[in-house]
Amino acid sequence: MTRQAPHGAFPEINHDEMARQDFAQRLREYVAGDIVGGNDAVYRHAVEPGFVHSHGRKPETRKEVRQAMERHPFHQAWGALNRATQEIIWDSVQVSLDRQDDALNQRVKDTGVGKGSLRLNPALKTPRYVAAVDIHCMPGNYHTESTEDDAYQGALLDRGAFIYARGARGPNHDSFGHDLLAYLDKAQPGFQPRRILDMGSGPGQVTCAFADAFPDAEVHAIDVAAPLLRYGHKRASSMGYDIHFSQQNAEATEFEDESFDLIFSCIMMHETSAKALRNYVKETRRLLAPGGIAMHMDFPHNEDKTPYVQAMIDWSTHYNAEPFIGTLGDTDWADVAVQAGFSHNTAAVVPMSTVAPHNHMYVLDARKPG
Ligand SMILES: C[S@@+](CC[C@H](N)C(=O)[O-])C[C@H]1O[C@@H](n2cnc3c(N)ncnc32)[C@H](O)[C@@H]1O
Repeated sequence: MTRQAPHGAFPEINHDEMARQDFAQRLREYVAGDIVGGNDAVYRHAVEPGFVHSHGRKPETRKEVRQAMERHPFHQAWGALNRATQEIIWDSVQVSLDRQDDALNQRVKDTGVGKGSLRLNPALKTPRYVAAVDIHCMPGNYHTESTEDDAYQGALLDRGAFIYARGARGPNHDSFGHDLLAYLDKAQPGFQPRRILDMGSGPGQVTCAFADAFPDAEVHAIDVAAPLLRYGHKRASSMGYDIHFSQQNAEATEFEDESFDLIFSCIMMHETSAKALRNYVKETRRLLAPGGIAMHMDFPHNEDKTPYVQAMIDWSTHYNAEPFIGTLGDTDWADVAVQAGFSHNTAAVVPMSTVAPHNHMYVLDARKPG
């Protein structure tokens, strides 16, 4: 089992808490790895033939697949277990965090290592698409604060997301950053950005991968959620990274026009509304310097997926509080970029599998000519 690398903000985890969290990680492996394929077999051998028998044709939409699958006992049992596992993961981390809340907040506040900076804006309004739902059932979502200097949600996300990913993103939970760097290296070999922006950085694991790859660049990370930024700043600075974290909405930032030559986001798009997506691709264009590159990476496009595959991805829309996954998959990201002012020949949607075979996401590659 891959272990998460500790850092200066990492919560203390005692023996019993680790045993509980290991159980949650193993359960997640079981549900998302060992038995998830049973759905494919059930669909192929029972659900699809049954649908053909009663309708005279195969299901044509993910909704038809979902409704037919929901009647099958295996899918019902798998779905219930998948949802329960998600809740068990958060619970296993919360039990540990609850007993050390004040000490953790104090440790995160007490930075003093590395350079970087942290700038919070208590007046910033949390967008409704973040505030209204506990995304992926994470209690309190990203933004909730109950005390001054609260970093709890940062620790909950750092640890919970690692367990959810079954450690597959590496000990620093940053493999998506390395995949994006591999994409950049292939798309624009030798590119040396001077100013980099990570939109929706969360606890900043991916931001650190970019800071590592471009040690001479000025690196900025923005997010709407103060607890994640506090935690991310402590995490990054304790690891020696010089990253500037600030609380800003990616739809309308405080940065000047054309102030970054590399802008990226990692799995932020599927957590924003359609309107917000358009706004922050527009903001990306405003912030991009001539010759600059933007990379926004997220969940697969639906157009090249069968209704069954779409339905399995869309399971999270209906049962794991991820309201925008399905609609993001239906959206033509390149068209969003063109609407935002990028030209047709400088905006493309590329499968990440071209550089990272295990990565099933896509990247919106949008550029501003030099
Ligand atoms: C799924 S997390 C991804 C975090 C990080 N990029 C990663 O790869 O682990 C999505 C993040 O986007 C942030 N976010 C959502 N909407 C945002 C917005 N309009 N402006 C800035 N951050 C936003 C959330 O607060 C959350 O931290």
